[in-house]
Amino acid sequence: MAGKLKVLLDCDPGHDDAFAIIVASKFAEILGVTTVAGNAPLDLTTKNARVVLDICGASSVQLHSGASRPLVAEPIHAAYIHGESGMDGANFAAPSRPADSSDAVHFIIETVRANPGVWLVPTGPLTNIALALRVAPDLVENISGISLMGGGRFGNRTAMAEFNIWCDPEAASAVFDSGAKIVMSGLHLTHQIMATPARIEMVRNAHSVVGPKLAGLLEFFSKMYKSLHDDFEGAPLHDVCAVLALTHPQFFGSSERHVAVEIDGAITRGMTVIDYRHVVSRAKANTTVLETIDADAAFGAIVEAIRACPER
Ligand code: RIB
Ligand code: CA
Repeated sequence: MAGKLKVLLDCDPGHDDAFAIIVASKFAEILGVTTVAGNAPLDLTTKNARVVLDICGASSVQLHSGASRPLVAEPIHAAYIHGESGMDGANFAAPSRPADSSDAVHFIIETVRANPGVWLVPTGPLTNIALALRVAPDLVENISGISLMGGGRFGNRTAMAEFNIWCDPEAASAVFDSGAKIVMSGLHLTHQIMATPARIEMVRNAHSVVGPKLAGLLEFFSKMYKSLHDDFEGAPLHDVCAVLALTHPQFFGSSERHVAVEIDGAITRGMTVIDYRHVVSRAKANTTVLETIDADAAFGAIVEAIRACPER
């Protein structure tokens, strides 16, 4: 697959993770998928990841499960948004095969060392990525970077903490402090691309077999989101941004900032502290913070990826 960007996805499917996998399958070369507990317990996020790989004709892609809980925090899941299965809203065929192993960390390390220049694309809690960086600090030099969904100028689990960071702040802090190049799709970006009713119909009509099922996922996801917010037109497709940031950078505006993760704050634990100051004494930037997205163009790419799924 000459020319396509090589990516390793680390995810917790999760409705929006599912769309991120589909988009990556179309526009990138997926070297492997690892799973982490987050939106749902690990057994469910792993099963869901395999289901999505089957949907987009990527059943042969290696899948390795990883951390079933954060480094320090107690595990907390998000059935209130993603449902008990972690991906409620549609019925899919049983996964074609189980995970290839339960050692995501060593799969990440071995894959990076064998494929210098690969991008890590985590869209769930950063536990696996932090563990891999701890076991193999050389990864920082061997990857092109880490394009992650997480954090932002505000929170969703608390006023200032976004779910992926809030789940495992210690892991997130280790990742932002690792020295790796980081591209961050935070909530202030991802809330700019919502699954509106018109866009859900675009998904439904994009593919005769999977279109209606994927539309069902978005209808469930959006119903949950709209029930919890007073002004949302639909669920944000958070995780897709972390993939599109690499495959379609022209869709985005960004700024170079220093980002650190609050660990100890009584009310700010899990906050990504982004330094927007203009003072010359500000900390050296360690993150490309995505600030704007061309949501219509981005959604067009999502629909194009869905159209590319096999008909079977
Ligand atoms: O806060 C949004 C993030 O949390 C997304 O990655 C979503 O899938 C959930 O994991
Ligand atoms: Ca996710």
